[in-house]
Amino acid sequence: MKKLDETKIKSLRYSDIIEKMTIEEKASLMSGKDFWQTQDIERFGINNIFLADGPHGIRKQMAAADHLGLNESTPATCFPTAATVANSWNVELGEKIGEYLGEEAVAQKVNVLLGPGINMKRDPLCGRNFEYFSEDPYHTGKMAASYIKGIQSHGISACVKHFAVNNQEERRMSIDTIVDERTLREIYLTAFEIAVKEGQTKTVMSSYNMLNGEYTNENIHLMREILRDEWDFDGVVVTDWGGSNDRVAGLVAGNELEMPTTAGETNQEIIDAIKNGKIEEHFLDEAVDRLLHLIFTTEEVFNKPYKQSFDVMEHHQVAQEVAEESMVLLKNVDQILPLKSGVKVATIGQFAEEARYQGAGSSIVNPTILENTLEVLADSRIENIGYEPGFERYGKKNSKKIEKACALAKNADVVLLYIGLDEATEAEGLDRSDMKIPENQIELLHAIHKVNPNIVAVLSCGAAVEMPWIDKVKGLLHGYLNGQAGAKAVLKILTGEVNPSGKLAESYPIRYEDTPAFYQFPGKEVSVEYREAMYIGYRYYDTANVEVRFPFGYGLSYTTFDYSDIQVNKEGVTFNLTNTGSVAGMEIAQLYVGCQSGEIFRPAKELKGFKKVFLNPGETKAVAIPFDDKTFRYYNVKSDNWEIEEADYSILIGASSADIRLREQIYIEGTNAPAPYEKSKLPSYYSGKANKINVEEFEALLGRKVPPAKWDRSRPLGYNDTIAQCQYAKGAIARFAYKSITFAHWFLKKIGKRSTANLIMMSVYHMPFRGIARMTGGIINMPMLDGILMMVNGQFFKGIGHFLRERKKFVKIAK
Ligand code: BGC
Repeated sequence: MKKLDETKIKSLRYSDIIEKMTIEEKASLMSGKDFWQTQDIERFGINNIFLADGPHGIRKQMAAADHLGLNESTPATCFPTAATVANSWNVELGEKIGEYLGEEAVAQKVNVLLGPGINMKRDPLCGRNFEYFSEDPYHTGKMAASYIKGIQSHGISACVKHFAVNNQEERRMSIDTIVDERTLREIYLTAFEIAVKEGQTKTVMSSYNMLNGEYTNENIHLMREILRDEWDFDGVVVTDWGGSNDRVAGLVAGNELEMPTTAGETNQEIIDAIKNGKIEEHFLDEAVDRLLHLIFTTEEVFNKPYKQSFDVMEHHQVAQEVAEESMVLLKNVDQILPLKSGVKVATIGQFAEEARYQGAGSSIVNPTILENTLEVLADSRIENIGYEPGFERYGKKNSKKIEKACALAKNADVVLLYIGLDEATEAEGLDRSDMKIPENQIELLHAIHKVNPNIVAVLSCGAAVEMPWIDKVKGLLHGYLNGQAGAKAVLKILTGEVNPSGKLAESYPIRYEDTPAFYQFPGKEVSVEYREAMYIGYRYYDTANVEVRFPFGYGLSYTTFDYSDIQVNKEGVTFNLTNTGSVAGMEIAQLYVGCQSGEIFRPAKELKGFKKVFLNPGETKAVAIPFDDKTFRYYNVKSDNWEIEEADYSILIGASSADIRLREQIYIEGTNAPAPYEKSKLPSYYSGKANKINVEEFEALLGRKVPPAKWDRSRPLGYNDTIAQCQYAKGAIARFAYKSITFAHWFLKKIGKRSTANLIMMSVYHMPFRGIARMTGGIINMPMLDGILMMVNGQFFKGIGHFLRERKKFVKIAK
């Protein structure tokens, strides 16, 4: 029998209720009542609570429910997405967004807001990067903690997701992430640690994928040893929707809530496991206790009179302010920006007519208001002489549109060109296939450049793109995905009413081939190997000396800043910052730390603090950035602990990761931990040239063999195999189903229905068989699924018989 470690058993807060509950009642709480709500039990006054997406606006569905953003939700403010707000580097702003999100959640009677999403941007192509903050864990953690504080200030709960190592969308429900312990801790868990310890999040969502061979939701090391024991997390772990694999193993690892409903099927598995003596009942009691705490504390706000509406205009205005602080000016030659008064502007680009302002999937918000550039142009100071779309949104070539755009551009002093990625390209459940913007937009840019080189591009997309065309623009404002009020915010920056102050929270490589995970992304079959280890983003480019288009932390302003007088002591660093230009502005000063000893390999430098400072022209302010528990630490795989290496450390203050303005050095005493590595076995890790590491060296880092990465095509398909694997199935019917799905996908793409094609990839192609039972609310249960698998594996008649018998049983019980 599996027992709870007695030394770690905490006394139950709600023992008076739990003692009176039957096992059945307790187990009934362990999965949803429906798609979005938890189960209630009237006789104990336990009400159900509502969980809703999402990270940049509430997506509360009242009627048809889905986790893919298909059906409309109640209107809510669509704030800029996390990738956008990350560029503000402003934790106070993050908290403010959180407060506004929280207010809307309360108005819609949502108890748990499913965000923020805080996975690391391991690779620029991850389809959900637009929903995540950064490639840096410290930056992400701080922004996340601020959102959480804001959301939870209303008494409800935030829910950080997806815990953990969910860094690709391809096969996200079954991929096995192979990563070494140090990288896991330093890169992929640090943001969660900050969200738990500093943000005090009440809920964590486990991810769909596996970590080193076990589903994260069942991974004792991750869920108990790290999350509960080390970080002291006392809140609730909810599965990602349909992400539960083995319910009992999940419970043992500390998973309180499985979502959505399984119509009681998995609750029964818990009951059986306890009754059969497989697990101790205390696992269930512990989970019930924590879930009750979440229910009781997050419903308090609704037990008193609460505001059931919010000021739509005020929230819209806040969304605009956030956008203003989050966009990044990437290029500004000949001082083309801000636009001088009286310049004649031609507005070109389909995105000016139909804004590109958020991503696709579960985070999709039904905005209360949606502004497009063309609608708000008249209210700006811009003298617009006309508009031409110039290109088709979804990539189709159209030379007529280019001709018309060029004819307009000829008559303008400056061309404002709205370009970027469409919403079908950046979507949950699917990774991008390259880092390019569509060819039809690039053709347009080249054609306009021939007739008028004074081009200012406004880029809309939620992730890094290649910019081989950058010489053709004089100004480049990266608007990212700036929410429902983004259009006005862009115009305010272009005209100089707002001085841009965003800086990139991710690196922009020159070519995709330059990226550290290029050879290891995405994992296509069983697993994905994080061979580059900690060298993601600037950690790699900096250490391996790989040139980038724009470095992490980069962004321009209409003014200039001077850094001086650095002083370092054990507590932190102080320096002076002066606005040396003629307009007021905000500067983001960044603290990087580099260890000068070569004993333990590390990135050349790592972000350990930052401050955003407002300065009037000529003004100087003293800035202090304190050190904290993360400034010098590294994870030692020998002592299995965070340690500090005795060494001299460079203390670097930068305007970006590549623009270090001040440097000092400090000697730090170490913790005398044993040397964790044999240097000679890890040459690439010591050199930082980590983009093409062979399997032997990766295994030396891992300390074990890597598991087979390819499917074993000879064995029958099981619960965790995906529909995509039907191509190798024994059953002709399965191979036919596979062919039909791939044909439908190809055909839909061909006729331009890319969003629907994506949906097939997201919800069918990469779905493990078990997902059929987990996502159908009990219509198909596991015994019926066994029948389906028999058919897939070549036993058609036996399978169909089994399926029908089980269906009959199910209908009888349901009656
Ligand atoms: C997503 C989560 C989301 C959930 C509910 C899942 O597919 O991965 O981020 O919160 O659906 O919509």
